[in-house]
Amino acid sequence: MSIIRYGIIGSGMITHSSADAIQKNDQSQVLAAWDPHKGRKNDLCEKYNIPTAADSAEAVLNNPDIDAIYIAVPNKFHASWAIQAIKAGKHVILDKPFALNIKQAKEVVKAANKSDKIFALGMNQRFVDSCQKIKTLADKGLFGEIYHGKAFWRRRSGIPKLQTWFGNKNLAGGGALLDIGVHLLDLCLYTIGNFEPESVSGVTYTKFGNRGLGEGNWGISDRNPKLKFTVDDFASALIKLKGGASVTLDVTWACHTGNPGMNVELFGTQAGATLYPAQVYRSSDIAEYDVVKDVKADIKYKHCCRFANFTKAILGEEEVCTTIEQSLAVQKILDGIYESCKTGKEVRIKK
Ligand SMILES: NC(=O)c1ccc[n+]([C@@H]2O[C@H](COP(=O)([O-])OP(=O)(O)OC[C@H]3O[C@@H](n4cnc5c(N)ncnc54)[C@H](O)[C@@H]3O)[C@@H](O)[C@H]2O)c1
Repeated sequence: MSIIRYGIIGSGMITHSSADAIQKNDQSQVLAAWDPHKGRKNDLCEKYNIPTAADSAEAVLNNPDIDAIYIAVPNKFHASWAIQAIKAGKHVILDKPFALNIKQAKEVVKAANKSDKIFALGMNQRFVDSCQKIKTLADKGLFGEIYHGKAFWRRRSGIPKLQTWFGNKNLAGGGALLDIGVHLLDLCLYTIGNFEPESVSGVTYTKFGNRGLGEGNWGISDRNPKLKFTVDDFASALIKLKGGASVTLDVTWACHTGNPGMNVELFGTQAGATLYPAQVYRSSDIAEYDVVKDVKADIKYKHCCRFANFTKAILGEEEVCTTIEQSLAVQKILDGIYESCKTGKEVRIKK
């Protein structure tokens, strides 16, 4: 059986679960990893049996034994590493968000379009079993016309480690919206099956991180007290899609709420659904209202893993789940929300 050999750029917190997933799959293995921080690089390699803690990124990108590169670095460096990896002739799976903004994302797409290799964002929430079940039912038409999706991720105290790149606009591009909003927005559009936004309006606020409050437990980069908190920790938006459907998105890294958690709710003419857990809601002939808690549906990606999907796509066994066009549409919406917040107006999304 063919094995896809990965190189890794970035050895931060998320790379631990990613390296684990790649190593546990019998169709893939990690050959080398690099990070500018030697200690984090060495820890990762030791923990996940990665044979080479590379001396430079170039040593990973130019290694002829490596087929694919996984990139998980501060957002500012997403586009530049992705372009370098594509130009080095590798398949590339980039962690979210796509880039700091749509301009950078388009530069990546330009490079990807010149390559015969696969480029994709690794949107892990799409592969969660319960999300896949609802996606299957949505594709089968069980919900009728899905006219609205409500996507939210509300954390009470979940700002990634303060005084690191996560909270700094120059390095992160945005805060809660870009960091966790991207997941729920992507998931909502994916289950609805519509990546054609027409307009967005939104607001963002910075109310906790700037006061040194609301820190959670994410991120292993070192603190730098000079890095000011200059991103949003709250965002709320209305997105209108081609054909008339709409999505509301609410995300907070920190806020006072009686209702923390994450979900996507779908509202259809025949039934509604939630993704976490998979539940279906519909009128019933035999009861007042039917809440289906034990949802039965085939799922498309039984491995439930973004890396297994990417590996299989390289091997020609599956289509890559997250297409470049879909990821561009998501980035356009995120950019649009920030613009709408700045101008106070609804923003039309260009094709
Ligand atoms: N898919 C998910 O659910 C998920 C979850 C968390 C983070 N992420 C994404 O993964 C990326 C990394 O996040 P993290 O949580 O691992 O952050 P982290 O702060 O824990 O680690 C970041 C790592 O990047 C390294 N780094 C800094 N500058 C670099 C550069 N120029 N080139 C290469 N490496 C550099 C740092 O030394 C550090 O080890 C971010 O883009 C984040 O949005 C995705």
